Amino acid sequence: MLKDPPIPDSQAGLAALQNMLRQRTPLAALETFHARYGNAFQANLPGFSATVLSGADACRFVLSAGSDTLSWRNEKDPIAKLLDQGVLVTDGNTHDDMRRIMTPAFHRKMLSLYTEAMVWGTDVVTAKWASGETRDMLNEMRQLTLIALMKALFSIDFSQDIDPLWRPILKSLKYISPGAWLLWADVPRPGYGKALGRLDTYLYGLIAERRAAQEQPEDFLGLLIDAGLSDALIRDQLLTMLIAGHDTCTALLAWVMLMMADHPDIQGNTQTKVRDALSSASPTLDHIKQLPELDHIVNETMRLYPPVHAGNRFAAQDLEFEGFRIPKGQRVMYSIYLTHRDATLWEDPLRFRPERFATKPQAFSYVPFGGGARICIGYRFAQIEAALVLARILQHWTLAPVKQKLHLHMGATLEPSPKALVRVI
Ligand code: HEM
Repeated sequence: MLKDPPIPDSQAGLAALQNMLRQRTPLAALETFHARYGNAFQANLPGFSATVLSGADACRFVLSAGSDTLSWRNEKDPIAKLLDQGVLVTDGNTHDDMRRIMTPAFHRKMLSLYTEAMVWGTDVVTAKWASGETRDMLNEMRQLTLIALMKALFSIDFSQDIDPLWRPILKSLKYISPGAWLLWADVPRPGYGKALGRLDTYLYGLIAERRAAQEQPEDFLGLLIDAGLSDALIRDQLLTMLIAGHDTCTALLAWVMLMMADHPDIQGNTQTKVRDALSSASPTLDHIKQLPELDHIVNETMRLYPPVHAGNRFAAQDLEFEGFRIPKGQRVMYSIYLTHRDATLWEDPLRFRPERFATKPQAFSYVPFGGGARICIGYRFAQIEAALVLARILQHWTLAPVKQKLHLHMGATLEPSPKALVRVI
């Protein structure tokens, strides 16, 4: 007999509320429900209903499913409105065709070309640092990841364009962040049109410039143009990459810098190894291969603070998971956050212990980039960028903690809030 996933009762709701007020994040409510009900429960609010799944079996169930079982797109979600036909928000053949066109931009050969842009982006940003000052790593890492991404994928020196586009980019992130629209899909959302329009003007300008150019650099934008896509379709993919490719890396790197500042022993040991391996050279792919501790730090940070804390799907037909009924049309979330902190999968789950990644985690227990056919297209890009940036920063800087009260903010990604202050020495 199939059952409905448990709906938290008023006692659980009250405990969740208390936990949420204590930790100042809605994720605390999910933790409370998970502790009480296990790996499948309903998160219901007036106007919103999701079946929340977590754990390795649940992640396998969601991530192995095709779009005829669990689909991605929901016309009413702001991210679908913003990215329109972007690869992130489409399903079926439309998605698969676009993904096939883009994939060569993330092949090994291309990734090794991008490393220069990543180190250059780090140098542009850290050139403004003075020893002893306190910097907000959210701000610093956003500049860095934007500059690196635009150089790598679009061959643009974005350090020139960043100031006028800073606010439109932040506005676009606010537009897709959880908010009242989750409960009231058609809520009026004034105040975004101008900023989003400026981003569009910029992107259409890039496309026009490139179409008019005599020579095409070998990059992501060139790949889309060569594939014969329309301007509108190219705009959707550029904006998808711009948003999905920098905001996630911003959150990750801000957390990495905070972790380093808070764990001076780990930072010190890693810094010694980095300085021995690099001397005065710029970090390359070969260097980071010789320094697995960089990946371990990045992975452990993404375990505790996954920039994408959950993935959303919609049941395309009536489904069943471990005896629970999931009706057609139901929103299904696989919780990366709960899975990464599950004590049945991770020893001492709340401790920051990068060395645990010296051994491979159990399949589907570590899914910061999702998995299956829709695994993050930029996962290698992100992993390489994070290791290179960390190496470059530890080569020249030491990070020290600043007294501050942080909570986890569920914006477009899971960010430290209100700021990620670190003293750079
Ligand atoms: C730390 C950095 C990153 C994290 C944690 C991350 C996480 C994710 C996750 C969890 C998904 C799958 C969501 C789902 O199952 O619904 C995803 C998809 C995607 N990511 Fe990333 N991402 C990162 C960096 C990047 C970068 C650097 C790019 C591009 C340069 C990128 C582009 C995309 C795209 C286009 C998709 C959609 C893929 C598809 O549906 O076929 N991401 N990402």
